Amino acid sequence: MSLLGRVAVHRARKAALLCLVFLMAPVWSSTSLALAGAAAPGPQGCPPQCSCSSQLSKVVCTRRGLTRVPPGIPANTRHLNLMENAIEAVQADSFRNLHHLEVLQLGRNAIRQIEVGAFNGLTSLNTLELFDNRLTVVPSGAFEYLSKLRELWLRNNPIESIPSYAFNRVPSLMRLDLGELRKLQYISDGAFEGLHNLKYLNLGMCNIRGEMPNLSPLQGLEELEISENLFSDIKPGSFRGLRTLKKLWVMNSQISMIERNAFDDLSSLVELNLAHNNLSTLPHGLFAPLKYLVELHLHHNPWNCGCEALWLARWLREYIPTNSTCCGRCHAPAHMRGRQLVEVDQGDTGVLQCSAPFIGDAPRDLNISAERVAELRCRTAPMSSVRWLLPNGPY
Ligand SMILES: *[C@@H]1O[C@H](CO)[C@@H](O)[C@H](O)[C@H]1NC(C)=O
Ligand SMILES: *[C@@H]1O[C@H](CO)[C@@H](O)[C@H](O)[C@H]1NC(C)=O
Ligand SMILES: *[C@@H]1O[C@H](CO)[C@@H](O)[C@H](O)[C@H]1NC(C)=O
Repeated sequence: MSLLGRVAVHRARKAALLCLVFLMAPVWSSTSLALAGAAAPGPQGCPPQCSCSSQLSKVVCTRRGLTRVPPGIPANTRHLNLMENAIEAVQADSFRNLHHLEVLQLGRNAIRQIEVGAFNGLTSLNTLELFDNRLTVVPSGAFEYLSKLRELWLRNNPIESIPSYAFNRVPSLMRLDLGELRKLQYISDGAFEGLHNLKYLNLGMCNIRGEMPNLSPLQGLEELEISENLFSDIKPGSFRGLRTLKKLWVMNSQISMIERNAFDDLSSLVELNLAHNNLSTLPHGLFAPLKYLVELHLHHNPWNCGCEALWLARWLREYIPTNSTCCGRCHAPAHMRGRQLVEVDQGDTGVLQCSAPFIGDAPRDLNISAERVAELRCRTAPMSSVRWLLPNGPY
């Protein structure tokens, strides 16, 4: 506006000056814009390595080769992006006056150390991104006072262990991404203590071998991604206490066996993905407690489609409203290979000849007093279920 005014004045005075004014006009306008941009964020201005957007209270300092957090970030900043720099350490009080900061992006740096007190003052922070760095420990001491934190991203750091109470300073957390911790050796039984509000946890590709970690403190967990680890056997109690879990992904983990009752606590489960494992059979009734299950992925497992697969095929057709691609194909026995698991008992009859379980050498009657042992051998397919009926009810 003022520029146009001045141009008009010059034009009125002298025609010869006009062309000079027009040549200078772009210079004036860019100068005045730069002044406005620098003045807006407040008394501290914008650090020279960053670009600041006053309307969004956003400061972006990506790919500047920064080795430390630059000083002079405006106090009203809500979103600070420091990704893809060369920061190795975050000192105490680095963000001390940023009481309005909601999102702090420190991913893709070279951070090895985060001092206690590094995040002091960040009372509004809801998202902290630390993925793709060089942390070898969870910087638990620095999480103090982050009372609004909802999302914490620690993916792809060479963290070696998760000790007890690693996250109990941030009970407000709702999403925790610990994926790709490929150097992880140890997860304490108390690692997730205090995370009562956590809804999403990623532990995929974390080099976990053998037993599931203790997830029972996560009483509000809704989604668990724990694929690409190594669990040969899923035991009863592996998912103890996860009564609100809706989605569970355990793909690509070489699971060869899931024991009876392993899923008993997962009464809210809606989606289960067990694809790309080494399952050949599942125990009868495994899915019975999962009353809300509608999405199931079982493909890419070497299914044995003998008689012990009958219950599964029937159950799938009854309860999983999808087509047969959900669950993959038979691997054995040879004459069944290539058939869809869901269709093992369909098509040409007589391919499967199955018989009910029976008691071999059954005594005509058996009279036994209390506390004595009677042994009855029952012949069944390996993973079928047997229910004994006694005069006073099923046992
Ligand atoms: C897959 O399961 C079979 C038994 O069902 C077992 O013999 C084999 O070793 C397992 N393979 C792997 C890679 O775990
Ligand atoms: C089965 O469902 C998948 C996606 O869920 C789809 O891509 C595929 O075409 C379906 N197949 C049939 C035969 O309906
Ligand atoms: C079982 O044995 C006890 C004593 O050994 C006997 O008193 C009882 O009548 C027997 N009951 C039956 C049903 O044979």
